[in-house]
Amino acid sequence: MMSSIGSELRLPCGAVLKNRLAKAAMTEGLADPLNRVSERHVRLYERWAGNGFGLMLTGNVQVDRRQLERPGNIAIDDSGGLEALRKLAAIGTRDGAHFWMQINHPGRQTAAAIHPRPLSPSAISLPVA
Ligand SMILES: Cc1cc2nc3c(=O)[nH]c(=O)nc-3n(C[C@H](O)[C@H](O)[C@H](O)COP(=O)(O)O)c2cc1C
Repeated sequence: MMSSIGSELRLPCGAVLKNRLAKAAMTEGLADPLNRVSERHVRLYERWAGNGFGLMLTGNVQVDRRQLERPGNIAIDDSGGLEALRKLAAIGTRDGAHFWMQINHPGRQTAAAIHPRPLSPSAISLPVA
């Protein structure tokens, strides 16, 4: 069957996307000093949300602020910021888009400047260009 980029897409998990336009996960580096959602995220996602995507993936969001992929990652642990996350979710979904958070632990991708001995299942460091 022919499908167009504007046609609905049903994923095996059951999610139904309104079209086949997706914004890829792109690390933002815009969090505040406590790694919470900032007004800069709000501005960025407001701009993206106006473009009719069926799906938007966030950049990676860390589960541990000691293990970041870069400074300015959002981290969700015990430092609050839930209201700001709710605001961002409302922006991301208001146009009928799915807005999925990429929950992440960077492991060996953690920058040495952030943690000299990152927690990782692999002892082999990741060459980062
Ligand atoms: C600036 C930038 C940031 C990215 N950040 C992430 C990220 O946080 N998580 C991730 O899984 N992929 C990330 N990627 C990879 C993209 O999601 C995508 O898979 C990759 O760019 C390949 O798609 P393309 O060929 O359309 O560029 C990033 C890519 C770019 C260019």
